[in-house]
Amino acid sequence: MSKINMNREIKNIETSLAQLMQCETPTLQQASEHLLSSGGKRVRPLFVILSSYLSGQTPTDATYRVAAALELIHMATLVHDDVIDFSEKRRGETTIEKEWNQSTAILTGNFLLARALEHLSTIENYQIHQTLSTAIVEVCRGELFQFQDQFRANQSITNYLRRIKRKTALLIQLATEVGAMSANANEKTIKTMRTIGYNIGMSFQIIDDILDFTSTEKKLGKPVGSDLRNGHMTLPTLLEMKKDPAFKQRIAQLHPEASHKAFESCVQHVRNSDSIALSKQISERYLQKAKDLLETLPDNEARALFNKLIQKLKNRKV
Ligand code: IPE
Ligand code: IPE
Ligand code: MG
Ligand code: MG
Repeated sequence: MSKINMNREIKNIETSLAQLMQCETPTLQQASEHLLSSGGKRVRPLFVILSSYLSGQTPTDATYRVAAALELIHMATLVHDDVIDFSEKRRGETTIEKEWNQSTAILTGNFLLARALEHLSTIENYQIHQTLSTAIVEVCRGELFQFQDQFRANQSITNYLRRIKRKTALLIQLATEVGAMSANANEKTIKTMRTIGYNIGMSFQIIDDILDFTSTEKKLGKPVGSDLRNGHMTLPTLLEMKKDPAFKQRIAQLHPEASHKAFESCVQHVRNSDSIALSKQISERYLQKAKDLLETLPDNEARALFNKLIQKLKNRKV
């Protein structure tokens, strides 16, 4: 197999993304470029490309289209997520709503989603379109569930896992599954890649939820403790409530207008609790499943690079 040049792959992705931001309407272009140029790990396109190589195949035009489109869809969900959460910062920069206004943010999210669809439209393999569109409907449902579950102290961990499966794991599952599909991998490999992506995605969101407690605003590029402040009960909080009924009482009393002090003391409590380490263990369990499945695939350069990427994500600070 030819040597994989990841630096070149990333550069190509950045070039396509920059082209896709072009729009006759300056505000849409500027707002999209604002988010694009503020960084981001480009995890989803990387998984698409590596998954195409991993299947023992090489990327096709469809692979690159899916890679760019998934980053655009991810960007669209971030823009809308920040509107829902009234977030002021994203990737270390002001959010679109803060820099422009709410309508511009909503429309920019729609624009990014529409551009993604346009970019995918020349792909002939209908299975790719079907897989993508079905999953994206589920992502929308996941975000709605998150909205409905805000400030609900009485919710199960299964409920949380279902929510993060939709809002995050599905997009990463799409990256690995459709990445393999786009390179014409066989059905069995496509299925394995799908499960690998799902497990990486679950682990990825749990780590994001831990970092919301343990990291700093400087590192994250967004305020810490914001999940709880927005009423999002994530794994560390849910585990702690299960263990400590008095803490659950305090969480149950939180509401959107509660004092800064009330939120801060709950955030501190979780930050200093064992529930952080337990959450890490659960996230690692998902990652281990992904790694075990990876072992069943041919040992090649792509597999090594894939392993390296998931290790990096596990230890990430952002
Ligand atoms: C943030 O995603 C939202 C989650 C799904 C956890 P990323 O952590 O991939 O964000 P960027 O693209 O690197 O900023
Ligand atoms: C990602 O989860 C939600 C999306 C699918 C957009 P978060 O709500 O945890 O993302 P951040 O923490 O705001 O980046
Ligand atoms: Mg959010
Ligand atoms: Mg988060």
